Amino acid sequence: MSSDRTLSMRPSSVAPRGNLNDLTPIVHRVVERIGETNDITTLVLEPLDAPSMTFRCGQFNMLSAFGVGEIAISMSSAPGEGTLRHSIRDVGAVSHALCQSRVGDLVGVRGPFGSDWLVESASVEADLDPRDTIVVAGGIGLAPLRGAVEELVRANERGGGRVFVLVGAREPSQIVFRADLDSWRARGAKVSLTVDLATPEWDGRVGLVTTLLADAGFDATNSRAMLCGPEVMMRFTARALVDLGMDPEGILVSLERNMQCGVGWCGHCQLGPFLLCRDGPVVPYAGLVSQLLTQRER
Ligand SMILES: Cc1cc2nc3c(=O)[nH]c(=O)nc-3n(C[C@H](O)[C@H](O)[C@H](O)COP(=O)(O)OP(=O)(O)OC[C@H]3O[C@@H](n4cnc5c(N)ncnc54)[C@H](O)[C@@H]3O)c2cc1C
Ligand code: FES
Repeated sequence: MSSDRTLSMRPSSVAPRGNLNDLTPIVHRVVERIGETNDITTLVLEPLDAPSMTFRCGQFNMLSAFGVGEIAISMSSAPGEGTLRHSIRDVGAVSHALCQSRVGDLVGVRGPFGSDWLVESASVEADLDPRDTIVVAGGIGLAPLRGAVEELVRANERGGGRVFVLVGAREPSQIVFRADLDSWRARGAKVSLTVDLATPEWDGRVGLVTTLLADAGFDATNSRAMLCGPEVMMRFTARALVDLGMDPEGILVSLERNMQCGVGWCGHCQLGPFLLCRDGPVVPYAGLVSQLLTQRER
C-alpha cells in the first residue's frame, strides 16, 4: 500500500481542510429510484444547476432530506459509470425520508468527502495492479464497495489482478445488487455468497463471511483487501487475512462514525486521534487503527 496513505493516518492535529463551500448543499433531483431489498433503496441523483460531481470509489456525501436532516451516505456508483448513486438503508428518521423519495423529488448533496479505496478508474490509462483483490462485504456494506468492484472487474478484463468478492447477509432477501453480482461473476470475478439464516429456497453457503476465506483461492501474500460491513465482521476478517499472510497495510476497512460537518470541524466523527470524515472513512487496518478497533471489543 502506498506510503502516502500511511502518512494520511497521522493523528489529526493539523488544521481542517474544509471551507464554507463544503457546508452548502447542492440541490439534486432524484432521476431514478431502485428498491434493492425491503429496507434498502438506491437513489440516482442529478444536479439541478451545477456540474456533475467527480469522486473516488469509497468516498461519501452528506445527503439532506429537506426539513428532516442530513446523513453520511457513500456513493454506490463507480466514477466511470456516469451516474451518482447512493444506496440507503432505512434505519431512522433521515434515512427513512430519503428512502421515501420519489423520482422528481429534490435532495441536498454536500461532498465528496473522505478517503477512498485506492482503486484507479479502469478507464484511465494507468499501470494495472497485478495483485489479487479480496473484497469482503456484509449487508449494506457492499454499497460503498460497488463502484470499486466495478472498476476492479473492468481492470481485470484488461489484464489487471484477479477479483474475489465475498458477501455475507443476514438472509437471502438481504443480498443487495444481485444483478451486479451475476455480471461480475460472468466477467471473471470469483463471487461467493453466504447467509446467516437460510430460507427453504436457499441452496448456497450458510455461516459467517469469514468462512468463505479459506477456499476462495486468492494468493494472500500478493494481494490487497477491502472490507466494509459491521465492525465485528471487519475485525474478524482482517485478523483472518493477517493470519493467512496478508500485510495489514494492504487491508483497507471503511469505518462509520457519527458525521455532522464532514470536513474536520466539529469533532463528532472522532476515533482516537483520528477524524474519520477526513482521515477516513477508508483506512488501513494497521497500527493504531487495529488497536483502536480491538479496544472496542472490551
Ligand atoms: C462515511 C459513512 C458512510 C455511510 N454510508 C452509508 C451507505 O452507503 N448506506 C447506508 O445506508 N448508510 C450509510 N451510512 C450510515 C448512515 O449514515 C446512517 O445509517 C444514518 O446516519 C442513520 O441516520 P438516521 O437519521 O436515518 O437514523 P438515526 O435516527 O440516526 O438512527 C436510527 C437507529 O438506527 C441505528 N443506526 C444508525 N446508523 C446505523 C447503521 N449504519 N446501521 C444500523 N443501525 C444504525 C441507530 O443506532 C438508531 O438506533 C454511512 C455512514 C458513514 C459515517
Ligand atoms: S464530521 Fe465533523 S469533524 Fe468529522
